[in-house]
Amino acid sequence: MQNKQSKNAGNRGDRLKHAILLEILDYTIQNNIWSYRESHAGAGYYDLNEHSMELLNFLSTNEKNNLQGVGQLYGQILKQWWIKNTKTYPGSIALASEILYRNSKSLDKIDIRATEVDIEAFTRLYSLKSEFNLGLKNESFDTNLDWLCEGSSMVFLIDPFFYDINVKMQSGGFGREQLINIFKNLSIKKAAVLIIFTSYIERSHKKTYEDLKMDISNHLPPKSVARHFITTRKKNGKTYYWISVIGFGDGVKIVKGLHSDWNKSWLASKEINTLIKEVNEIYQ
Ligand SMILES: C[S@@+](CC[C@H](N)C(=O)[O-])C[C@H]1O[C@@H](n2cnc3c(N)ncnc32)[C@H](O)[C@@H]1O
Repeated sequence: MQNKQSKNAGNRGDRLKHAILLEILDYTIQNNIWSYRESHAGAGYYDLNEHSMELLNFLSTNEKNNLQGVGQLYGQILKQWWIKNTKTYPGSIALASEILYRNSKSLDKIDIRATEVDIEAFTRLYSLKSEFNLGLKNESFDTNLDWLCEGSSMVFLIDPFFYDINVKMQSGGFGREQLINIFKNLSIKKAAVLIIFTSYIERSHKKTYEDLKMDISNHLPPKSVARHFITTRKKNGKTYYWISVIGFGDGVKIVKGLHSDWNKSWLASKEINTLIKEVNEIYQ
């Protein structure tokens, strides 16, 4: 499984997910939120491949390029990562840890917790502990929701292999029951931002994202907001990467404030070509 993840690390889906994640963390840090959670943490970092090499080459050969706007922090943190780790691409938890540690004056405020079931991925993930103080469990997220949702405010990333309404947990997916449980937990927080990332292949999986969109809309608690972002893998648009960002309590203004001017991002430049369309449907 780790091989498959390594093969895809840094692809368009990761660029969308990691750029939005860092933008959200930038806002939440400004709002004094230092807790980060992940239900499907992955291996923490991945060997370089064609996708991440493309990013590395772009960022190192365009020293003076303008990293303004959406994706600015993603570019900066990648550059910083590649000064010290020349052979790997950072996963979501490494990127989140980097930005939290870089910005905190008091390290004991930072509270990062994650679950990851796969032992091979977990072993690599665990090696990040020498650099960052991470709470990690090699267990399924659904049996650890109380632990993951502890605290008054947080950013929570759900990054499963797919969404399926009636999913079986062993399959690596995420389903309606889990979505409702997480909504229940986060709706009582002072501030929370939930990020759900999925991909789908147009012909076979279209229904899964439509189901997710519908389920989010049907179960969204009062005083929350959802925005959706999307990018395609091929120019002819066969594979889609889909990210839903949901704000609860004071997290609502963070989600509403997210940039949407993707065309000006370095990610949309010719070499990187990750043009991100914002679908921008908001429910309250
Ligand atoms: C798409 S990867 C995560 C990638 C990671 N978030 C990143 O961006 O670097 C999904 C991960 O979820 C793990 N996983 C699958 N089912 C799980 C479960 N029930 N609980 C926790 N982790 C799970 C898989 O082993 C896999 O490593």
